[in-house]
Amino acid sequence: MTPQLRTVDWVPAQASRRTPGDVVLIDQTRLPNEVVWLRTRDVRDIWTAIKTLQVRGAPAIGVTAAMGVVAAVQSRPGATADLIRAADEAAAYLATSRPTAVNLFWALDRMRRVAAGAAALAPDAFKDRLADEAVRIRDEDAAMCRAIGRHGAELLADGATVLTHCNAGSLATSEYGTALAPIYVAAEQGKRVKVYADETRPLLQGARLTAWELMEAGIDVTLICDNMAAHVMKTRGINAVLVGADRIAANGDTANKVGTYGVALLARAHGIPFYVLAPTSTFDLTLASGDLIPIEERAAEEITMGFGRRTAPLNVKTFSPAFDVTPAELIAAIVCEKGILRPPFPVALRNAAG
Ligand code: MRU
Repeated sequence: MTPQLRTVDWVPAQASRRTPGDVVLIDQTRLPNEVVWLRTRDVRDIWTAIKTLQVRGAPAIGVTAAMGVVAAVQSRPGATADLIRAADEAAAYLATSRPTAVNLFWALDRMRRVAAGAAALAPDAFKDRLADEAVRIRDEDAAMCRAIGRHGAELLADGATVLTHCNAGSLATSEYGTALAPIYVAAEQGKRVKVYADETRPLLQGARLTAWELMEAGIDVTLICDNMAAHVMKTRGINAVLVGADRIAANGDTANKVGTYGVALLARAHGIPFYVLAPTSTFDLTLASGDLIPIEERAAEEITMGFGRRTAPLNVKTFSPAFDVTPAELIAAIVCEKGILRPPFPVALRNAAG
């Protein structure tokens, strides 16, 4: 996979109209063993794809949900007022799939607003208008990621070695990724960059996805288990930690894949700058701090029977948060499409969002 390959796309049945069409996704649960595409126009499949992480990563979830609204509406008969109601219902349904990544709610709100504003259109034109918006969300996300890559590459010298956690690459976005975008841009600029990828228990996004997409792109990547990060920071000359985000609160506190907070503490202990890279669609300035970010908890089986094999006693008690919150004071900079934001974050985030 090249960074330009599309993780999620809208494919219309006819070239002349946006609708009807299909949502086409890379099924990320099948990676790295096989590249399988999921093609559907059923909103229930799209809900399940988000819930089960066939598509995952905050921006990719938002884009997919926007397309899910179109899928739900496009085959409905009825007047435009009925279609607006159907779009609202679909958005409310898709919003129940995962709670932490704010991009999901951001994209669904945008689709709802567009639907409400298109009440004067005839039904077919209304459906095309919704599909146009979903594709625009996709294209804007790709452009934001590209800009994040350009800004973030300024932080990477030729020969830099970085550590990353989870997958915030092409697979997690429309294209390029957030945390991995600077690595792709630096490589295009002729810089040599090495990456250490945490495997990211329990679902192994680092091993299955980050290692795979970086290798496909010809980037020098070394896979490590999560519990090796401290040793690697001490012995392998890590120059920077780059991670993505699922939600950034107004004070800069950042929710990302569970384990990120620990990596940030380790980076601080080793004097390594810890950077968060995310588009402004990941900012949630309605929340004063990270304490207010809803943290998804996932099924016990993901940690007791990962990938189908029992690795813990039957009925053992478990706790499986999918995300944690890194306090703003551990973050050296937040890189968004507008540039590199430095503390104090409350002002910088407000200015970038506005
Ligand atoms: O549970 P996941 O795989 O959806 O978690 C993904 C992450 O935590 C990513 O780092 C985050 O969404 C940023 S993706 C650009």
